[in-house]
Amino acid sequence: MTKKKTSDKIPVEELTELEALAELKDLAVEIRSHDKAYYQEDAPAVSDGEYDALRQRNLEIEEVFPDLVREDSPSKRVGATPTSGFSKVTHARPMLSLGNVFSEEDLADFLSGIRRFLKELTDDLSIPLEMVAEPKIDGLSISLRYEKGKFVSAATRGDGSVGEDVTANLKTFKELPFELTGNVPDVVEVRGEVYLSKSDFAELNRRQEEAGEKIFANPRNAAAGSLRQLDETITASRPLKMFAYAWGELSEQIGGTQWAFFEQLKTWGFQVNELTQICDDLDELMAVYNDIFEKRAHLDYDIDGVVYKVNRLDWQERLGFVSRAPRWAVAHKFPAEKAQTIINEIDIQVGRTGSLTPVAKLEPVTVGGVVVSNATLHNEDEIARKDIRIGDTVVIQRAGDVIPQVVEVVLDKRPKGSKAFKYPTTCPICGSDAVRDEGEAVRRCTGGAICDAQVIERFKHFVSRGAFDIEGFGSKHVEAFFDEGLVKTPADIFRLETHEVDLKTREGWGEKSVDNLLAAINERRTIPLERFIYALGIRQIGQANARLLAKQYISIGALRQAMKDASVIGSDALNDLNNIDGVGPSVAGDLIAYFNEKNYQELLDDFETQLTIEEFEAPDDSSSPIVGKTIVFTGTLETVTRGEAKARAEQLGAKVAGSVSKKTDYVVAGPGAGSKAKKAAELDVTILSEQDWLALIGEA
Ligand code: IVH
Repeated sequence: MTKKKTSDKIPVEELTELEALAELKDLAVEIRSHDKAYYQEDAPAVSDGEYDALRQRNLEIEEVFPDLVREDSPSKRVGATPTSGFSKVTHARPMLSLGNVFSEEDLADFLSGIRRFLKELTDDLSIPLEMVAEPKIDGLSISLRYEKGKFVSAATRGDGSVGEDVTANLKTFKELPFELTGNVPDVVEVRGEVYLSKSDFAELNRRQEEAGEKIFANPRNAAAGSLRQLDETITASRPLKMFAYAWGELSEQIGGTQWAFFEQLKTWGFQVNELTQICDDLDELMAVYNDIFEKRAHLDYDIDGVVYKVNRLDWQERLGFVSRAPRWAVAHKFPAEKAQTIINEIDIQVGRTGSLTPVAKLEPVTVGGVVVSNATLHNEDEIARKDIRIGDTVVIQRAGDVIPQVVEVVLDKRPKGSKAFKYPTTCPICGSDAVRDEGEAVRRCTGGAICDAQVIERFKHFVSRGAFDIEGFGSKHVEAFFDEGLVKTPADIFRLETHEVDLKTREGWGEKSVDNLLAAINERRTIPLERFIYALGIRQIGQANARLLAKQYISIGALRQAMKDASVIGSDALNDLNNIDGVGPSVAGDLIAYFNEKNYQELLDDFETQLTIEEFEAPDDSSSPIVGKTIVFTGTLETVTRGEAKARAEQLGAKVAGSVSKKTDYVVAGPGAGSKAKKAAELDVTILSEQDWLALIGEA
């Protein structure tokens, strides 16, 4: 790669804003790489003079374009050992999220769900279901790893499976215990929430303002900005704190209850929230909830709800998880914060499946510390039901990370002569008819592949986090590349390198940024099947369904063949598909439609030549006797509930189906098993008693 010498560069005063932007970006990357070579690898790549010239140039551009100064600008780093971005860490145990409840009723349902799952609690209602209640801290979750009692690394949550390595930043934490003493397992991962206190937040913003730096919207953003600093000396100057509340990998269990675990955390020197309490029933939980809600305003940290966790760890273990949230814990969210503002406009957005979504463009207003200028209006019926009109003053609310919503119209403030909103019946982007299927709330554009909005949204989904997750390939690139015709289908992304020269001469782009982008694309040429399926953006196929499909069909070839076969009504393939626990006829219909459409088949062929789509690998080790087996449970079970038995089978890598077919490996039949056991006998499928089943999985 040839680099321009700084002296050849355009005089700073003659730079356009775009050129300045691009150059600042390149300089940040280049200086950082020299810093790394110098500080971390002891191998400087340029002379001191050249290095100084780069820094000087950076400063000069920043002087002329003060608005373009980057968060990661070299001018903001003072003599520290810089790190070059964060490296990725795969969590030994995924970092989960929590399901939500919003009312006492929801909470009662949650508790009875647990009772139904655990047989002894179903059978004996007098056994208390002890729960621990604690505030839900509004910060960032973090995982700290200790080996032989010594702090070794720290990672952010990231997408739950892969986070960022922030070890260097955490080392600057005054609160962090570096060494755990006493009863310490060889490997301990302590998880918790990093936050900035309200008073420290106010003080930080005061300092930022004084220095002419960015003002943070709320403590959470400030904590995130502070933790995710490439320069850990900045992190060090910000008084981050942490509450510990969970664990990741543990080489030995600690205590038998959540409460005992908290006690242990305290003896190791972690902060455990002082409002944490044990509760025996719904009333006690609600009392703690109300108490914490009242204290909220007086606490020096932001909280957005109360978290309840089953106290007994053996029960937690048995309850396990559903997709990414535990069955044994839930967040009780505080009611949303509200504000009034005016609707200036109603925009209709077109999603990747053609759905038209109305969005209210609002007069910006602050709700719960965040400036809101858009709110979702959900769909046509919602607008009609609430009679929402352009020009109306409305009450909006926002809860946590949820998109703000319009609660109601303030009719007293409605301007005279306002008219009901007329919902479009054609697509605002491509002009095709937008139709509403019977029983559906959503109107959809029928333009399909000719609708640019749909195509672009599918692209954005394709490169997004849970899908191909191509670093540096954001929505802006998608739009620009598509507009310029550089990419027509997502498969074209993997041919972008043939446009390398065009890309490098684009306005706002430098050599380095193109190299980085192409490298990021190349990194994704190998992809696990479940991610690939999700990336396709098929209707109703989110991450959970994509995973179910990957688990069922193992390879892309098998999946495609099965979807072709399943287009025949009455076929085994269709039965198998419908039989996947969690897939119903409507999902099956969308899948079959997708895989049998010619355009998509061509796209898939194209992908298969560009990519290596990895076969699904069951996470459990092969020592499990039922990996990959299909199991049907029927009748009543004696030792566990059917729910727990199903969950256990899935944990051990089996597929649980709802009805018996030739593909079924085992039918576990308890007393009262009827037609399913009969069908199994007809098809010669092995029938197991509950005892046989427990023996098979080694739990008799
Ligand atoms: S427990 C397996 N406890 O809320 C359970 N989470 O919405 C893991 N959070 O990702 C979470 N305060 O970042 C737990 N006291 C608390 C919490 C808490 C805040 C966050 C955490 C989690 C998110 C889920």
